[in-house]
Amino acid sequence: MARELHDGFGRGINYLRISVTDKCNFRCVYCMPETGVPARAHGELLTAEEIARFVRIVAQEGITRVRLTGGEPLVSRRIVPLIEEIRSISGIEDISLTTNGALLPRMAADLRAAGLDRVNISLDTLDPARFSQITRLGRVEQALAGIDAALEYGFTPVKVNTVVVRRMDQDVLDLARLSVDRPVHVRFIEYMPIGGGQGASAKDPNSGHGLDPHCGAGAAGTGGALNPDLWDASDVVPSAELRKRISSEAAAAGLGALEPVRDGGPLGAGPARYWAFPNAAGTVGFISAMSNHFCESCNRLRLTADGTIRPCLFSDAEYPVREALRSGDEDAVRAIYRNAIARKPRQHDDIDGTQRFMSQIGG
Ligand code: GTP
Ligand code: 5AD
Ligand code: SF4
Repeated sequence: MARELHDGFGRGINYLRISVTDKCNFRCVYCMPETGVPARAHGELLTAEEIARFVRIVAQEGITRVRLTGGEPLVSRRIVPLIEEIRSISGIEDISLTTNGALLPRMAADLRAAGLDRVNISLDTLDPARFSQITRLGRVEQALAGIDAALEYGFTPVKVNTVVVRRMDQDVLDLARLSVDRPVHVRFIEYMPIGGGQGASAKDPNSGHGLDPHCGAGAAGTGGALNPDLWDASDVVPSAELRKRISSEAAAAGLGALEPVRDGGPLGAGPARYWAFPNAAGTVGFISAMSNHFCESCNRLRLTADGTIRPCLFSDAEYPVREALRSGDEDAVRAIYRNAIARKPRQHDDIDGTQRFMSQIGG
């Protein structure tokens, strides 16, 4: 196995997140505009062959884990052959996918056969009306059927991602409860200032598009009451506060107390810290991207759908690799990759939003 490369701060890089498309069949209010992301010329996007070529090269540089993201990776028609191709690459031990789940019931069998190991499914609420307000185009039954399909087809572990936004007022205990009877790992994610493409500082309190306390009430025809440009620090619910809230609601509901998980939690623990209800089949995780960032142990790098290497989710420094991949110059690809790792920033001290939408980076 190739030795992993280390960045300028001694962090070993072995995990690559690939945004295979910036398109999505949902339009989550905190992730992309109601109209979707601007269309791009076909030639601007990496082909499946180019993505696989990149993975083949970086597997020789110590990448062992690959996560496919979007947008929504399952709207890409080339996702199954891409997974097959990545599966055949020596050194890649773990292939995972982050999805909204809507297409999983129809695709789970093919994805499993192609060699996908595990899936993380986004689900922000179990309330049907609120789910439709948050995702604009989705129905909660779709995400739930996606979770069922993931369990049925043996993806392990199955994780659920819940982005918590204070004014979306979500049913967090009901979501956490999903971990009791089934082996799912429900992770609550602090809302990050990515999404508007203009950065958090673009917030204009007078624009009339702020987060509506009723989450979408009155949104019809207005372009949406929740505007992804409008991240605000007061919308972040710190994990410690949320864990307290879930614990006290759980105690009142007779579910018992959340206990820390001792072995670190499910495979690919990544940035989440895990807890569990007594005798639960799954766990409850917290991703404290804002209140307690995990930059010092960050092992990851990103490849965007248009072919740039992004060493940090929060930093707009990007290293274009598309032309080198297209020309077949592997030495050039390697050099760009090594340079991107050498320049990975130490941490995101200065979060001020990013120029790209979340759906273009893949989280
Ligand atoms: P595994 O640990 O491999 O299961 O993946 P993950 O939990 O890191 O991936 P997933 O795509 O499910 O992302 C969950 C949340 O973590 C999303 O909100 C991501 O945006 C966030 N996240 C993932 N990687 C990073 C990172 O490097 N920095 C920050 N700040 N957030 C991240
Ligand atoms: N903050 C935190 N997480 C986010 N995601 C999308 N936008 C944000 C944001 N602004 C999550 C999605 C998905 C994962 C890849 O990133 O819900 O589960
Ligand atoms: Fe699509 Fe996920 Fe973004 Fe929602 S959060 S619009 S499901 S990519």
